[in-house]
Amino acid sequence: MKTQIQIEQQDNRTGDAALADQGFGRVARQNPPQFGGADVERIHEFFAENGFAVIGNCLSREELEHLNEFFERTQRERPEAWGLGGKRRVYHRSQGLMFSQPLLDYPELDAYTQHPGAYPAVCRLLGGVDKVRFSEFNFREAPPNAGRGRQNFHHDAVLPDRFTRQPYMPVDWLCAIHYLTDVEPGAPAFAVVPRSNCFATLREAYETLGEGYWETPIFGPAGTCILYDTATWHCRFDGDGKRQRRTWHQYYARGGWLPSSLPQTNRYKRPPSPCLTDWNLFPERLALHQDPAVRLFFSHWNTAQCEWVASGFSDAVRDTMPRGRQ
Ligand SMILES: [Fe+2]
Repeated sequence: MKTQIQIEQQDNRTGDAALADQGFGRVARQNPPQFGGADVERIHEFFAENGFAVIGNCLSREELEHLNEFFERTQRERPEAWGLGGKRRVYHRSQGLMFSQPLLDYPELDAYTQHPGAYPAVCRLLGGVDKVRFSEFNFREAPPNAGRGRQNFHHDAVLPDRFTRQPYMPVDWLCAIHYLTDVEPGAPAFAVVPRSNCFATLREAYETLGEGYWETPIFGPAGTCILYDTATWHCRFDGDGKRQRRTWHQYYARGGWLPSSLPQTNRYKRPPSPCLTDWNLFPERLALHQDPAVRLFFSHWNTAQCEWVASGFSDAVRDTMPRGRQ
């Protein structure tokens, strides 16, 4: 039986709300269901239907303390890595603070890349434990009194065959957003439009889904994890512009060739997902790890990574790369 999330919702489509930057104003008032991290089959069922799923209590108190301490320590010791200080980066102005590549210099984070709270579900959603590939890992913060960011609804990386392939699952990429601070009404909340992952525009989703279209903010205590298909329309809803929010974002890609085909040809196979960015780098200890399973996990190298490996992971080469140091 399919899980539905539409109960007790509010339709705000009046006047200018229909043209709002952050959607059409048809906002769900009830939080979507939260699953346990071990409940992988129910997570898969809900995700396949809706393009996202929420895992409650994904992180322990000790892990939350560690990661929040990491934010504070690295903002103090390496402010430039967060876009703080004199050279504040353009892309931070509307997105808050961001530490793009903390894995490069901090092995203390390695254990989080396959975190037991969400990783079993990630494996199920991407087609198996040997099919999951690492893409990106970053930290973000909306500082207290940061004002409003006005992030519009968008999707992340997508492939065109999502409109036609059969079956749709497994997805090409998925993102895990972990709340590291409590996200309650008034705080900036991650929001999705359920079942929007096969629409080219938000308006098309709005007009086609009709009564089934809901912009759905996701509230939850620190430790909540949201898994979403990168093709699902989403945004960070503005809060009151006063409250702080810290998040850890990790992207995973699908590895290996899949036999599933487009309907018009039985020769097409789905290749491993392309690299998500042209700048993201994997450190030597992970890219060339002695365990072949870890090497496979970190095997989706972009051309910048290939050049960095060829240089022997040279610091000078890294310094020429965008976000290589900052
Ligand atoms: Fe996004």
